[in-house]
Amino acid sequence: MNNKKEFIILGIETSCDETAASILEIRNKKLEIRSNVVASQVDIHRQYGGIVPEVAARAHIEKIIPIINESIVKSGIKNPESSIQLVAVTNGPGLITSLLVGVETAKVLAYVWQKPLLPINHLIGHIYAAFINNQLSMINNQSFPAICLVVSGGHTELILMRNHYQFQKIGQTLDDAVGECFDKVAKLLEIGYPGGPAIAAQAQLSMINNQLSLIKLPRPMIKTKDYNFSFSGLKTAVLYTLKNFKSELAGSKKEISQKLKKLPQKVRSKRKQFISAICAEVQQAVIDVLISKTIRAARDTGAKTVILCGGVAANSELRRKLELKTKNLKLNFLVPPKNLCTDNAAMIAIASYFQWLKLNSTQRKKLKDEWREIEVNPNLEIS
Ligand code: KG4
Ligand code: ZN
Repeated sequence: MNNKKEFIILGIETSCDETAASILEIRNKKLEIRSNVVASQVDIHRQYGGIVPEVAARAHIEKIIPIINESIVKSGIKNPESSIQLVAVTNGPGLITSLLVGVETAKVLAYVWQKPLLPINHLIGHIYAAFINNQLSMINNQSFPAICLVVSGGHTELILMRNHYQFQKIGQTLDDAVGECFDKVAKLLEIGYPGGPAIAAQAQLSMINNQLSLIKLPRPMIKTKDYNFSFSGLKTAVLYTLKNFKSELAGSKKEISQKLKKLPQKVRSKRKQFISAICAEVQQAVIDVLISKTIRAARDTGAKTVILCGGVAANSELRRKLELKTKNLKLNFLVPPKNLCTDNAAMIAIASYFQWLKLNSTQRKKLKDEWREIEVNPNLEIS
């Protein structure tokens, strides 16, 4: 590829509940996102308190063509067939019916336009979103090895990245992912969906009010020497704390009601304080465990860089605290901008470019015919 000439990629992502398409341009060794369109299904799934796979797939089918079209129009490309040089699509991990919509659409486009098609691992996409501002200078420089903390609704993993496209999973959650834990806790506390942003907002309230929380929750597996995690116990601890609070409240409600006529207002503010306090503690417990294990992994592997990514990486406190910790230890810290943390197709296009760079010209030519063999894998592992 001539460095002066632009290279244009269409990225497609439908692994979960976002239908997304993006146009990425590479010119003079710089990456530029020319469009990044995401149609979220959050409003559809909110009523169920979680994602319903069948409903998600239907919504993807309705949206996929309009979203791809919108990404092309917004990018300013006049003739996609001649301008786009590579199509990239998520082929796993994720919900099988959701993944199929993106992959089959990408196959049709690659066939009709006669373009190479690259299947991309969703988690590798999350990791490469962190390279958007630090891109090509990273290719041969001294920033590797890197430790990647991937935290999303479906995954919590620690990945050792020795170089571009050289990954080794060294740790993972043994039960719930962090995002899943946040979503379940938010459901218990009835504060909204998705849970991550709702808990972060409540925790922020607690900080603004300078609340000193007496609630103490466990930091699961923080002391174990491995790089694994466990978050299902945290959710159970919240459940019991909530039950205790409710029975406490019932007692005091009776007492106070005899003495004070203003009971409802008092009870309401007590409940509000409890919710924000427990959210601050859940968030802190999660951050403590994530940072402790990530830093241990970085030390043990001699990593020079720490990468934070995935939907939960949009959490301001986690970003701030991990950045501070890495700074103190003189480690590089990479994190995507917040809008590239949650699912999007720009991250898939960025990841595909770094994979493309690793291929020789014969391998690149072969991609035009290999689309037939691309398969969806809901349990795709990083390798
Ligand atoms: O990566 P992502 O968009 O989808 C998956 O691949 O799963 O991650 C979604 C997860 C959800 O569980 C959501 O609650 C969480 O990311 N999340 C957050 C924040 N924004 C999204 N968690 C904590 N703080 C946030 N600001
Ligand atoms: Zn994701």
